[in-house]
Amino acid sequence: MTKAIFPGTFDPVTNGHMDIIKRASKMTDELIVGVLNNSSKHSLFSPKERVEMLKEATKDLPNVRVCTFQGLLVDFARQEHACIVIRGLRAITDFEYELQMSQMNHKLDSTIETLFLTANIEYSFLSSTTVKEIASLGGDVTPFVPSCVVKKLSKSF
Ligand code: PNS
Repeated sequence: MTKAIFPGTFDPVTNGHMDIIKRASKMTDELIVGVLNNSSKHSLFSPKERVEMLKEATKDLPNVRVCTFQGLLVDFARQEHACIVIRGLRAITDFEYELQMSQMNHKLDSTIETLFLTANIEYSFLSSTTVKEIASLGGDVTPFVPSCVVKKLSKSF
């Protein structure tokens, strides 16, 4: 059984994340979307809210499970018996950080492999940060995030 983890902050989930989730779910028997619960990282939405939005957005994907994790990603992967970590690559600017993270995770646990999916060109400019900025300045985020996130963002700003 192929089990993979797609980890991230997801503050909030965007259509770019959703594209990776849909594609990765087709490649695996089970895809666990791991929402980092990190109290030291300032986020707009609480881990519970981020999980709720992801659960709503992935409700039609039967092999996708959403949960939070704390601590090291490799420990979470071990706990879930998953040996694949999925990450999306948008542009070359993502590469350095992603390469470092995948190599460090592999050093921490050599049984864990990182698989990179390149972002669909349609979403290569998209990030949770820009979505929040647009929403905070009264812009329309409808093309960039699932509908449940549009509602949450409009309540937040
Ligand atoms: O969506 P993000 O913010 O790019 O996700 C980053 C994330 C959550 C994947 C990364 O920060 C992470 O794995 N954090 C858990 C702590 C950890 O394992 N750190 C060592 C990685 S080298």
